[in-house]
Amino acid sequence: MTSASSCSRPSSSPFSPPSSILIIGSGVFGLGTALALARRDAFAQCSITVVDRSDPSQSGAFPSPDAASVDTSRIIRADYADPAYAALADEAQVEWRKQGKPTDLGAEGRYNEAGLLLVGDAAPPAPAAGPAGEGLKPKLTGMDYARMSWANVLSLASKDPELAARVRELPNPDAIRDALGTGGSSGSWGYINNNSGWANAAASMAWLLGQVRRTGRVNFVAGTVVSLEHSENTVTGAKLDDGRVLSADLVMVAAGAWTGGLVDLGGQAVATGQVLGYLDLTEAEQEKLAKMPVILNLSTGLFIIPPKDRVLKIARHAYGYINPVTLGSAPLPLSPESPRTEASVSVSLPRTSVTDPSLSIPAEGAADLRCALREMIPWPELYDRPFSKTRLCWYSDTATADFLIDYHPNWKSLFVATGDSGHAFKFLPVIGEKITDCIMRNCPPEFKDKWNWKSTTPARSGTTVFTEDGSRGGMPGLVLADELAKAEAVVPATA
Ligand SMILES: *[C@@H]1O[C@H](CO)[C@@H](O)[C@H](O)[C@H]1NC(C)=O
Ligand SMILES: *[C@@H]1O[C@H](CO)[C@@H](O)[C@H](O)[C@H]1NC(C)=O
Repeated sequence: MTSASSCSRPSSSPFSPPSSILIIGSGVFGLGTALALARRDAFAQCSITVVDRSDPSQSGAFPSPDAASVDTSRIIRADYADPAYAALADEAQVEWRKQGKPTDLGAEGRYNEAGLLLVGDAAPPAPAAGPAGEGLKPKLTGMDYARMSWANVLSLASKDPELAARVRELPNPDAIRDALGTGGSSGSWGYINNNSGWANAAASMAWLLGQVRRTGRVNFVAGTVVSLEHSENTVTGAKLDDGRVLSADLVMVAAGAWTGGLVDLGGQAVATGQVLGYLDLTEAEQEKLAKMPVILNLSTGLFIIPPKDRVLKIARHAYGYINPVTLGSAPLPLSPESPRTEASVSVSLPRTSVTDPSLSIPAEGAADLRCALREMIPWPELYDRPFSKTRLCWYSDTATADFLIDYHPNWKSLFVATGDSGHAFKFLPVIGEKITDCIMRNCPPEFKDKWNWKSTTPARSGTTVFTEDGSRGGMPGLVLADELAKAEAVVPATA
């Protein structure tokens, strides 16, 4: 694949900081970058503005209730099949584990090192992906992912005997059942890593916002960006839905799954919706699960996070649903010369209960969550207990699950940080620094080719991507509207 990345340009290309930067999106990428910029000497004279639809000055409005950076919990793990992400997550975990002072990231219940039980299954791999998957690395199965992750975790823990003692192989279903402690499970192989756990997502974002505010360097604008402004081949700012225009020397789009509505990503990253269900427990049930680790089944993508405030979360890290929509106004085209084609106006974008209050989750997804619950926590009293809440969480998915963090190759003054692929949250304490390195044209070498702007994918399409990193379950290529039309969906999606 040829690289058009600015990150990969020789370092002789000098970097001169912009006098102003506009960051679109206040998620993990956007806000993390704002913090790193505010702390970096090179940007001491740069004015930093963050614009987002959620208004951080209004209590309860931040993060937006349908953002991917919000809700009760996120898995925090260095358990990756890819050594570069494993090492970066290991770096992040040092920050998550800080709990000594109330202002530390991991304090006040923001981080819980409950352990992570990761299992694979020797079953045949999920159905092969369509044409967009061709020409990529060979597809990993859930079991491949689990075994490679095990090797990386052992290698990371080898530097410290205390860490190493907290990781153990689970070679058969009985060992898995013992480690899970709920009576459930039958996967064929796995391991437990007590150095991993989960974070309270909303509380961690509030912590990050507090850090950014404390610098006194960042202006916040509440508003919905509808398009990017440009003059010839230079991006100059963003236009809001109320007609306001924000101008800046450098514009960074970090709008997560919404990014494709602003910039044509040429099929590099696509919004996919993932199902989540929440179940209310009694105090006694929560007590019985007090020692339960996070469990992630890499063959199905299904996972359960231990309960908090008597709510149990069940989710599926899958290919997800796409939601193709035709935009009224086209996003910024691939280049100033690009014709405005059909493909550039039809993109997959989030559909959430904020914009669609009657939204529910497809019966197919709800049934899968139910299966995971029955297998992982096989208590008859939970079998038919209805979900108290369901949700679609929107990822910005790339084909390799690599992030997309780079200067735009064809537009000046435009930087993109998206493609979270549903695994970015854990990097909250470190990703802003890395993004800032990329802005300074000093991208970490191990991520240069992973994060750069890919010239175009083989079957260029604005609406489909199949993420083949071995961590996804479910069926590829499901269209949300089709799935919703199939059967009465179970519960309204409340966020
Ligand atoms: C992980 O933690 C659980 C719960 O505290 C404990 O029972 C188990 O022995 C630990 N396993 C390892 C490998 O440290
Ligand atoms: C993981 O999913 C597979 C189905 O692919 C299943 O056979 C296995 O029992 C599951 N493992 C656990 C621990 O739930």
